Amino acid sequence: MKKAGLFITFEGIDGSGKSTQVKLLAARLEEQGWDVLLTREPGGSKGAEEIRALVLKGAPERWSAETEILLFTAARRDHMEKLILPALAEGKYVICDRFIDSTRMYQGLRRGDLRTVVDTLTKLMIEKQPDLTIVIDMEPSIGHARAKSRETTEERFEDFGVGLQSKMREGFLQLAKEFPDRVRVVDGNQTIENLSDDIFDLVRERF
Ligand code: ADP
Ligand code: TYD
Repeated sequence: MKKAGLFITFEGIDGSGKSTQVKLLAARLEEQGWDVLLTREPGGSKGAEEIRALVLKGAPERWSAETEILLFTAARRDHMEKLILPALAEGKYVICDRFIDSTRMYQGLRRGDLRTVVDTLTKLMIEKQPDLTIVIDMEPSIGHARAKSRETTEERFEDFGVGLQSKMREGFLQLAKEFPDRVRVVDGNQTIENLSDDIFDLVRERF
């Protein structure tokens, strides 16, 4: 029987360097001969990309936090069924730019009282947890400036401002304490190359 693959997720505030680093990690693993599926949330599968457009565009008050939890979880369920679980069953490394922990933070923490709802719904709907989660830690004002300098209309969350990013940063650091076996923190305030080396070392050490 083929060995099941490994599931690595990246988390951190907007503009912390996740999208840059997932690509570099995927390229390094491929160079070593591994099969890699590089994907992202919200999105990944066709149905989940359609939900992505709904949640990331428009005014900040477009959806309540409760409705967002349902939309992100629906997108994640489709992504798991169609892409992530089949790739893991084929023995691939799956690298995902954001996953469950983003919902725990952005929806569960934003208003302070919805974390239990996120955890309960996740238990019901998302059977697979990541094997390793890398949190890129970053000063919110730098992350926010980097994120806002991109040309995109997917800015609903960035429009909540630096205050939200600070709360999310603290939340991600707290998650590393809550799940010490799964979640590792790296310092995002270094060159792209040095950060990529730190991440690769972490992955090698873990697997
Ligand atoms: P995220 O996916 O976390 O929002 P990105 O990887 O898209 O972050 O990076 C946001 C912006 O910052 C991009 O323009 C990217 O080129 C730049 N960037 C990424 N990593 C670094 C770094 N280590 N130092 C300086 N700029 C960076
Ligand atoms: P993403 O495209 O990864 O943005 P960035 O590259 O700026 O980090 O994600 C878009 C936004 O979606 C981001 O602000 C966080 C938000 N988000 C949630 O609120 N909940 C979730 O479950 C996920 C996956 C993302």
